[in-house]
Amino acid sequence: MKRIVLSGAAVLALAGATFAGFTSASAQSAEGDAARGKTVYARCAACHDLNTGATRLGPSLKGVMGRTSGTSPSFNYSQALKDKAVVWNSASLDQFLAAPAKYAPGNRMAFPPMANATDRADLIAFLEQSAR
Ligand code: HEC
Repeated sequence: MKRIVLSGAAVLALAGATFAGFTSASAQSAEGDAARGKTVYARCAACHDLNTGATRLGPSLKGVMGRTSGTSPSFNYSQALKDKAVVWNSASLDQFLAAPAKYAPGNRMAFPPMANATDRADLIAFLEQSAR
């Protein structure tokens, strides 16, 4: 009897975890925590300016929301990112950051996949507030 109760709880916990993973993976970034996203952005900051428009290793992300990929005039993009011609928004950024190399094969952003959907949602919420 006790064993059945325990395994029932385990199944419930598993189902809960799966559901949480599903909802955060498909969540709108409006649900992300921008304050926490700022700390996630530390992984991007060496290569991406956010406020001044300056080029670092990568293009400035100032104004990136709503911008078409590969179109900041002061950066020399890969053909891959120019050809992708995607408008950056919460959905496209989420896909790109989850698997940069797969999203635009041949792009030059040397950054590993960000597997954690909560990290991505928080980061995107921060970008929506700050990349202006
Ligand atoms: C090692 C340096 C580096 C890091 C770290 C890095 N990037 Fe990049 N990023 C680049 C480069 C270089 C490009 C341009 C790639 C190309 O032209 O193919 C780029 C391109 C981009 C673009 C496309 C911009 C545009 O104008 O189309 C976005 C969005 C972006 N990065 C977001 C991020 C975010 C968010 C992070 C942190 C999670 C991050 N990057 C981390 C170097 C980096």
